[in-house]
Amino acid sequence: MPSVAKNIAVCVSGGIAAYKSLSLIRLFKTHGCNVKTVATENALQFVTPLSLETLSQNPVYCDTFDRSTPYNVGHVALADWADAVVVAPATANIIGKYANGIADDALSTFLLAVSKPVFVAPAMNTVMYNQPAVQENIMRLEARGVRVIRPVKGQLACGSEGDGRMEEPEAIFNTVLNSLESFRHFASIKAVVTAGPTYEQIDPVRFIGNNSSGKMGFALAEVLAEHGAEVTLISGPTHLQTDNKNIHRIDVKSAAQMEAETVKAFADCNVAIMAAAVADFTPKNVENQKIKKTSDSLVLELVKTTDILAELGKMKKVGQTLVGFALETNNELENAVQKLKNKNADFIVLNSLKDEKAGFGYDTNKVTILGKSGVVFTSELKSKKDIARDILDVVMKNVNI
Ligand code: CTP
Repeated sequence: MPSVAKNIAVCVSGGIAAYKSLSLIRLFKTHGCNVKTVATENALQFVTPLSLETLSQNPVYCDTFDRSTPYNVGHVALADWADAVVVAPATANIIGKYANGIADDALSTFLLAVSKPVFVAPAMNTVMYNQPAVQENIMRLEARGVRVIRPVKGQLACGSEGDGRMEEPEAIFNTVLNSLESFRHFASIKAVVTAGPTYEQIDPVRFIGNNSSGKMGFALAEVLAEHGAEVTLISGPTHLQTDNKNIHRIDVKSAAQMEAETVKAFADCNVAIMAAAVADFTPKNVENQKIKKTSDSLVLELVKTTDILAELGKMKKVGQTLVGFALETNNELENAVQKLKNKNADFIVLNSLKDEKAGFGYDTNKVTILGKSGVVFTSELKSKKDIARDILDVVMKNVNI
């Protein structure tokens, strides 16, 4: 099934479903993937290191302080090696640790070092699975972009029937491989993504800004980078951080600075996605000194900024794909169609401020994607990382490499 060999880290935590991880390893191996395994101490009560090592044909990583391997930082080297990470089974304990940034053994430490796609397949008793604490941890992981492969109803090890039975190895294998396959061509792509607001200085202490958090642009950059794309992320002021090695981040403040950096980076990219909320107007003159409140009113003269998306639309060469966003409050579709045409974009991702919990500041979003032929995709309300995957899935089918 996979067209290129993939490096998969299969992580096993301590539940009875650990025996199924052996079938999962075998599936990856028989389909041409390289597999390395990570196990918790408790997992090794259920499956032996010998089984994991024989099936994966690699040593199992289970001790952060193992001195028998050549010098390298084990969990970091393994995180660099992997194209994807699968935690199956994932106990309530490892889910809790991962969701809360706890690193007290080989597996939890490894997970914190990973900036590749991570799939988590929970397995536990129904009462445990339905605990608000466990559900909150799962939702936290999903909001950060971790793919949770939900357990199914069935016979559980404790003898009862209910939710919590780990999904079958074939289903986990298919989810992981299908996802990696659909993003496979990202590895040869150069992308430019803009994110966040711009700040237009009025005087040395004041500026005109907007409510953009940058979350959508960062989610797009991360999904691209996780799948191997080389990304230039040009970001306005935001508190967000990203540590992915494939992301080259350039911080800017004003629309003019964003324009200069974006135009520079656009020249040799395959795809550009303009998710930033760029100021449309900027003060004509920036005061050198703080404006004093000496009069009862103040009139600021503003001038139009360059529309970066439209600028790129003029520069666009054959083989480059240009994606814009449109934030609308009314006549959404008509306005978005107009923006697509006027700015010579290939796609416009439409956000409506009428949609609850979507857009500015939220961790979730709901979008409609317009192509030249009209609406090509409409999403549900989802995490911004999931929306990023949807957008990139639609857009990348159009990218010529
Ligand atoms: N955009 C840009 N440069 C600007 C303004 C907007 O590149 N100076 C881009 C945004 O990054 C986004 C798209 O244009 O991809 C649409 O932005 P939006 O604010 O929805 O629309 P505007 O074109 O600014 O039009 P209006 O504010 O009148 O709706």
